[in-house]
Amino acid sequence: MPSPSARRYLMCRPTHFDVVYSINPWMDPWADPDKPVDTALAVAQWEQLKETYLGLGHTVELVEPVEGLPDMVFAANGGTVIDGRAIVAKFRNTERTGEEPAYRAWLAGAGFEVRDAEYVNEGEGDYLLAGRWLLAGTGFRTDIRSHAETQEVFGRPVVSLTLVDPRWYHLDTALTVLDGETIAYYPAAFSAGSQAVLRRLFPDAIIATDHDAQVFGLNAASDGYNVILPEAATDFAAALRARGFNPIGLDLTELLKAGGSVKCCTLELRG
Ligand code: ARG
Repeated sequence: MPSPSARRYLMCRPTHFDVVYSINPWMDPWADPDKPVDTALAVAQWEQLKETYLGLGHTVELVEPVEGLPDMVFAANGGTVIDGRAIVAKFRNTERTGEEPAYRAWLAGAGFEVRDAEYVNEGEGDYLLAGRWLLAGTGFRTDIRSHAETQEVFGRPVVSLTLVDPRWYHLDTALTVLDGETIAYYPAAFSAGSQAVLRRLFPDAIIATDHDAQVFGLNAASDGYNVILPEAATDFAAALRARGFNPIGLDLTELLKAGGSVKCCTLELRG
């Protein structure tokens, strides 16, 4: 039976959120020449996510947003934190490298043993801990060489998974960890070999529909029972309910204009 456990999350208020460059297919800086993004609406939607976590009894810590870094709201990308140890992100795109010192300083200040990465990696965007496995995405952002580096730091078996569709450019856009044994994923986002690996490791996984994936439904955060997900992902919500999970849908569509949603806004801090 799915059961919840209290989590500690790091988030970053989207005070400076905007879409002024395009580094994934969801981002269209020219969508509306007057104002492509409603920053106040993004903040309101993000506040709802934060309040939902607090209401479920989770701890939310905040890193100060930095002006000129419109994607900093996507805290999942700031690093990977397991067993009190943190590997700081090394971003693929220069537009986001300015976030690295901010996340490094926060993680060090919070008492984590901080490591700087040698290879490009975008934190929990591409690293998801699923029970005994550390699932690791590559193909668009995180360098495959980072996978060996990360396995060495955490001593957790890393499973490399190759993403093949640019719309699902981070692992956390195509795969959700629900609890130690259960995941959900969208097969079409992965190479044939990676699909076979996922079938082998997780034969009972929830298979997401095209609709779920297209509304970014897999970009969800689970505490083992409650699953916060984009509210438009109705197939996924029904599948979760059938498995005994408690889906909680939220509207984060303003943040989706940058190609991010629930999970992207959430970095789990594991002591
Ligand atoms: N605009 C951001 C980027 O392309 C979105 C990041 C979303 N984060 C995530 N964990 N998937 O880098």
